[in-house]
Amino acid sequence: MRIHDIDFEPYISAAQVETAIRSVAERINTDYAASTEPVLLLITLSGATMFAGELCKSLTIPVEFSFVKCSSYGASTTSSGNIAFNVEPTASLLGRDVIVLEDVVDTGNTWVALHTYIEQQGARSLKIATMLLKPEVYDKSLPLDYVGLEVENKFLVGYGLDYNQLGRNINGIYIRIKGIGN
Ligand code: IMP
Ligand code: MG
Repeated sequence: MRIHDIDFEPYISAAQVETAIRSVAERINTDYAASTEPVLLLITLSGATMFAGELCKSLTIPVEFSFVKCSSYGASTTSSGNIAFNVEPTASLLGRDVIVLEDVVDTGNTWVALHTYIEQQGARSLKIATMLLKPEVYDKSLPLDYVGLEVENKFLVGYGLDYNQLGRNINGIYIRIKGIGN
């Protein structure tokens, strides 16, 4: 499949992704079973929306949704290291038990920036659930609480992940095979 100037091939099926997401949901259900307040799911736009939707189908604890938009990539396929907030969290984080939902953790720059920001906003507790992790790239000391699947250090699209805004609606994860530029 070709998106813009890059060719992709199937990498992880939707069924495999969904099995991994169910396992993340089960761990969250166990860990937050004793929570007295609803957990605030802070969903990173736009990539984590499909992950969030699928995860919620298997969450049995009370949750609220909030959204945040950070950008590190722009129209490129490599992380710039500069994180900007395009949309600040759409709910107060003060005193909340927050779980950040990410589509993929790559360098970890986004998670580190979000972690600092969310702590400053006075969250009571903070964890991250990411659908995918590129362990070869992640070099931060912050723990990653819930990881769906570990993936290669290659550019991926599908299941919410985009290449310059396209490919998010692909049902499954596709991996870059060849391309020009970037
Ligand atoms: P990090 O800040 O380097 O950890 O990058 C995290 C963000 O970069 C993710 O939320 C994605 O939006 C984007 N990203 C990282 N790797 C990929 C990829 O392979 N395909 C599409 N987006 C990616
Ligand atoms: Mg993202």
